[in-house]
Amino acid sequence: DICCGSEVCKERKDEAPVLQEDACIESNLCSYPHYLIPDTNVVLHLSQTVLDVRAMHVCLIFVLRETFIEREPGESANDRNDRAIRVAAKWYADHLAKKTNGGSLKVVLLTDDRANKEKAEQYGLIVYRCEEYIKSLIGNPELVDRLALQPDDQNEITGSKLLFPEHLPLSRIQSGIKNGVLLQGTFHANRDNYLEGTVFINREGEDINEVLLQGLQNLNRAVHQDVVAVELFPKERWVAPSSVVLQDDSPNDEDSEEDETENKRVVKSENVLKPTGRVVGIIKRNWRPYCGMLSQSMIKEATRHLFTPADRRIPRIRIETRQAANLAGQRIMVAIDGWPKNSRYPNGHFVKNLGTAGDKDTETEVLLLEHDVPHLPFSPAVLSFLPKMPWSITEEDLKVRADLRHLGVCSVDPPGCTDIDDALHCRELENGNLEVGVHIADVSHFIRPGNALDQEAASRGTTVYLCGKRIDMVPELLSSNLCSLRSNVERLAFSCIWEMNHNAEIIKTHFTKSVINSKASLTYAEAQMRIDDTTMNDDITKSLRGLNRLAKILKGRRTEKGALTLSSPEVRFHMDSETHDPIDLQTKELKETNSMVEEFMLLANISVAQKIYDEFSECALLRKHPSPPPSNYDILIKAAKSRDLNIHIDSAKALADSLNNATVENFPYFNTLLRILATLCMMQAVYFCSGMDSDFHHYGLASPIYTHFTSPIRRASVAFHTQLFFKNKGIINEEGFILFVRKNAIIILIPKFGMEGAVFFDNKDKPSPHLIFDSEGPTLKVEEHTFRMFDKVKVTISLDASNIQHQRIRMALIEPVIPGVSVPVPESEPEAKKPKLDC
Ligand SMILES: *[C@@H]1O[C@H](CO)[C@@H](O)[C@H](O)[C@H]1NC(C)=O
Ligand SMILES: *[C@@H]1O[C@H](CO)[C@@H](O)[C@H](O)[C@H]1NC(C)=O
Repeated sequence: DICCGSEVCKERKDEAPVLQEDACIESNLCSYPHYLIPDTNVVLHLSQTVLDVRAMHVCLIFVLRETFIEREPGESANDRNDRAIRVAAKWYADHLAKKTNGGSLKVVLLTDDRANKEKAEQYGLIVYRCEEYIKSLIGNPELVDRLALQPDDQNEITGSKLLFPEHLPLSRIQSGIKNGVLLQGTFHANRDNYLEGTVFINREGEDINEVLLQGLQNLNRAVHQDVVAVELFPKERWVAPSSVVLQDDSPNDEDSEEDETENKRVVKSENVLKPTGRVVGIIKRNWRPYCGMLSQSMIKEATRHLFTPADRRIPRIRIETRQAANLAGQRIMVAIDGWPKNSRYPNGHFVKNLGTAGDKDTETEVLLLEHDVPHLPFSPAVLSFLPKMPWSITEEDLKVRADLRHLGVCSVDPPGCTDIDDALHCRELENGNLEVGVHIADVSHFIRPGNALDQEAASRGTTVYLCGKRIDMVPELLSSNLCSLRSNVERLAFSCIWEMNHNAEIIKTHFTKSVINSKASLTYAEAQMRIDDTTMNDDITKSLRGLNRLAKILKGRRTEKGALTLSSPEVRFHMDSETHDPIDLQTKELKETNSMVEEFMLLANISVAQKIYDEFSECALLRKHPSPPPSNYDILIKAAKSRDLNIHIDSAKALADSLNNATVENFPYFNTLLRILATLCMMQAVYFCSGMDSDFHHYGLASPIYTHFTSPIRRASVAFHTQLFFKNKGIINEEGFILFVRKNAIIILIPKFGMEGAVFFDNKDKPSPHLIFDSEGPTLKVEEHTFRMFDKVKVTISLDASNIQHQRIRMALIEPVIPGVSVPVPESEPEAKKPKLDC
């Protein structure tokens, strides 16, 4: 007794969905009001492409008593399904005709199945193919572009030449993996070289963890993140990965031989040999819609275009569009439909226009989409789980929580911080020992497991900080108010409290839910000022001094044990408060109070790790940092050797000591450079479950156990804002240091801006200088000059906007002066650059 749902039908119940007669799309084929009934395949196909809630209304066809049919003897399930749809469409058409006295409202069936269409016509239905119908729509030309290509069409638009080996069927892949002939893994494209990628073998007990793939044929249409089956090559064919920077951005759309010649430029060096192989089949595609831009086309009127994704690991995608002229300069989204074996590029279709490239809002949207950051406003379902305002602490809360409102708790954060998730206190106990507390906002009080709010927060995972914009993990009422430990308000917290002696040795630790009332929300600078101002002696200041003194002892002890002080230049921007454009850039200067807060957060993270491991020995969520294999440090050791210094890597302690010792007279920045390099040699830290691993050690922190407890991790969109900054600045000259020497380039760090960039020596549009690369040094001889790591250079920095999608910071060498290579010191007025096609 489900009703038909149509507005014209008097029998419909009020709560049923309303199919409005006048909410009609204009079409050349059907110039009358109509409802669409797409068959199952059309629904599946459209929902991936054309259909978006704004473009069409989707409605389910229920099985009514009148439309139910039995499968007939000899009829396949598919045929029965098609017949059921025809019967339903017919019932619906007749029903509406009756209700509208003769049929001003019609039903149109969409199907791409030839037999189904013929039968429907014989049955007296109005029926169209999907494409035919979409093309007939007036006022929605872009919908046509969004139709995914049918498998049959794909051969038509590409040549018949076979470019890639056939993929094996899944059955042969499975047996191949079982008997060890093939390996299964996840494909990672190389960001700097489109002809190279690595398959990470994700199976325990396999001797081989990575297989290097080189050349288009061997990559065999694998796309970044696909799960693939690979076949190993014999050992004679194993090679070292290339260190050339190579990009697929020729304007040429032809399936040319150029790839082979480019491949030969990948010089092989005699370093560590890596297993190589080729992709023989795809186990699972992991495609998503990609952000990017249309490549400039040579032919103006063409409808076939190449799309260049913003993510350099994704290949260019061929799409058909009639609106190329409108899409020039726009950021768009494109989805891949397939990659036939005779096509140089995958085929795809236009999904959505995101706005003008270079525009701050568009670029932010691209960043968020490309990093899969959920950023829509919170839904009403999520918001319904927020506490009702005004909110206050109840007697019930106080019964189950320690009342710490009287303590001299304060918070110390960067200026402008609104989500204060930690606060501290320190006081002397009667027995002469010290009590130190770290108080973390008790978000779990407000977010109950499994509800919509919890699920949304889990899917967001973290608050994302962009310069001038923040995407919250939980609604603002919680993040900036009820779960922000502001001063002079009562807040619920989770407290980790230590009793310590004056030598910062822990005597007792306990954990409790609590109620606090912070006495001051300070910035790092304000906290530092209080500590240094000897005339101040209030409770908060005394508490800060105590914390600071203990933090220094704790830090000293960690350093003793071999914790590494690694620097990476952190950058912050001063934003123009009106336009939110970055106007100044400076490397972050660290105060004592930064390290004070950090030290106690670390201690809380470690104490909590130990506690959850004691309580839940099998399922504690911990974080570890494996020691790197010694060969990771080769580059660091070489770099130090070049200045007659020795780096010892036998232990974290030895490394820390030799880094401390590694200084060069009249070159104060040398030590920082070494530490930056050391960071780059490290392994990635990982989360793990205590029951599944026996090695818990955190190498970088020199701690036997560690977890993340005190706050979510923050990220920032610094790279893009660096570009905006330079866009407004024109060309500037800066001093920098060589961080890496490559075969065709030097990578330079600019300390003033905490940023890296490359100076390339092989240009596509002019003869390259004579280059000799020595991997032993490593050194790169350019004409008569030899570059070594950490050499000081002078460069010009500018934003090259000639290709707006790949706008990038350009560096050109000023000093040392190499004839034909280095550029003259620029005039104050930057010259207009002529556009170049490659970048
Ligand atoms: C530090 O350097 C000095 C002098 O160069 C050397 O004697 C000492 O052994 C070095 N210490 C370490 C730990 O490398
Ligand atoms: C402590 O854990 C939080 C995550 O909860 C993390 O963001 C923070 O960096 C950690 N702090 C230290 C000093 O380990």
